[in-house]
Amino acid sequence: MSDQFDVIVIGGGPAGYPAAIRAGQNGLKVACIDGWKNYDGSATFGGTCLNAGCIPSKALLESSELLHRAQSEFAAHGIRTGEVGFDLAAMQKRKAGIVKGMTGGIVQLLKAAGVTALQGHGRLLPGRKVEFTAHDGAKRTLAAKHVVLASGSAPTPLRSAPFDGKRIVDSWGALEFDAVPKRLGIIGAGVIGLELGSVWRRLGADVVVLEAMPDFLAIADQQLAKEALKHFKKLGLDIRLGAKVTAATAGKDGVKVDYTDAAGAAQSLGVDKLVVCIGRRPYTDGLLAEGTGVKLDERGFIVVDEHCSTGAEGVFAVGDCVRGPMLAHKAKEEGVAVADRIAGLYSHVNYDAIPSVIYTAPEIAWVGKTEEQVKASGVAYKFGSFPFLASGRARAMEAGQGFAKVIAAKDDDRILGVHIIGPMAGELIAEAVLAMEYSASSEDLQRTVHAHPTLSEALHEAALAADKRAIDMPNR
Ligand code: FAD
Ligand code: NAI
Repeated sequence: MSDQFDVIVIGGGPAGYPAAIRAGQNGLKVACIDGWKNYDGSATFGGTCLNAGCIPSKALLESSELLHRAQSEFAAHGIRTGEVGFDLAAMQKRKAGIVKGMTGGIVQLLKAAGVTALQGHGRLLPGRKVEFTAHDGAKRTLAAKHVVLASGSAPTPLRSAPFDGKRIVDSWGALEFDAVPKRLGIIGAGVIGLELGSVWRRLGADVVVLEAMPDFLAIADQQLAKEALKHFKKLGLDIRLGAKVTAATAGKDGVKVDYTDAAGAAQSLGVDKLVVCIGRRPYTDGLLAEGTGVKLDERGFIVVDEHCSTGAEGVFAVGDCVRGPMLAHKAKEEGVAVADRIAGLYSHVNYDAIPSVIYTAPEIAWVGKTEEQVKASGVAYKFGSFPFLASGRARAMEAGQGFAKVIAAKDDDRILGVHIIGPMAGELIAEAVLAMEYSASSEDLQRTVHAHPTLSEALHEAALAADKRAIDMPNR
């Protein structure tokens, strides 16, 4: 095999593998280097998302949600089951099987696109050369016309609660528990804290979530956040806001967590396991040799322009290691856009229309600006919301919680943001993303026929409500 490529991609997660596949589809000679290693020592493509993030978390969310529904909802449907139990080992085995299938699939996809898949470490050298160190230690120097850096992110450590991999763990560790902790502490009420907190709560753990900020889910529309908090409390998540952890000490019997509460009083909490999920940091360890011309900013992100170019000739960076939301779909779109740009094709990522989804129950999803952001921007706006309680389909599903909310500009009616908390919110948001991608107005949504009875009617009615024309609820 020649060591000269058109494109070398370093990183095989949701940013890197799509970049490699698209570059291959574009007829270029491509290598994709990935260094991921699992707990059992196996090397797999797919990065954080497939191995330790999106996919395993969704597998456990689904299993634990089914259990919860069987326990709390079946009776309302008139279904008698007797006592419903679960087998954690079987649940974990199902999850592992899904991950194995998906990560194995990536290797096939790379192969089908003619990409040379290399497992080991990649290090960018000056002049678009890449030092490749295979897992067995063998080194080779490769060269390319273009290099795409897609090295991803890693959990942010907390000095007062250092990971020990046993009792104090990161999100990956919390996906691998082989027994349900009786008492689970979580530091950080962000996306991971809420998703994994929901999983282990539904499986029976007493879960306390310590959040440093005084507001709950500050990144979300606050009407949505308030509704969400109500449901998390109902599930039994004990969320303590304004809590600053000062120390966490692991011992034989568990972890003692010291923190100051919102009133500034010293508190202490005993748990069996502690998950620290206070955000993620860009991961660039060992990625860049001296003299490559690639720069890092003060937070460690690789500096790029709006086209993901690093400024060093022919070197791009995409995904979690660069600015913007740390989301798999954002990473994928950047990877594909860069691969098209390298091939001289048109490419564009619309950073104003990237959806966010939190896969809890009810599900939470949004795109565009929150009402607070619109207010702060000074744009005159109107909004309409519609409760799932008034949706025939949601009621039939025993899922009449939450609402859909559409915010639009007063002058030209363009949609500024859509926020949904309720059943299948993560699927429903796709319509809003497409609407925003096409610069739709709320009237466009109002005049679009939605099948009845579907959950999507809630979005339709919310758009109508923005002009006080909702049919299935009184307009205020
Ligand atoms: P990564 O997925 O981190 O992949 C980077 C890859 O590069 C890794 O395989 C790494 O080993 C490799 N690498 C790094 N440096 C080198 C090197 N020098 N040489 C060779 N290889 C290297 N996002 C969503 O959109 N939806 C979700 O539901 C979701 N759930 C999540 C749940 C959890 C618990 C976590 C932790 C994250 C979740 N995310 C989710 C975020 C998502 O996983 C990331 O946004 C996504 O994985 C970023 O993709 P990436 O390719 O940039 O980085
Ligand atoms: P996060 O940024 O979502 O939340 C971190 C939370 O921890 C915040 O609420 C923050 O205020 C809090 N915090 C920070 N420092 C703290 C401290 N010292 N003590 C207590 N609380 C503290 O980060 P998280 O949950 O770790 O997830 C990382 C990223 O992974 C997410 O931002 C998201 O990009 C991605 N992800 C996406 C998912 C999805 O799309 N469904 C699911 C899981 C992760």
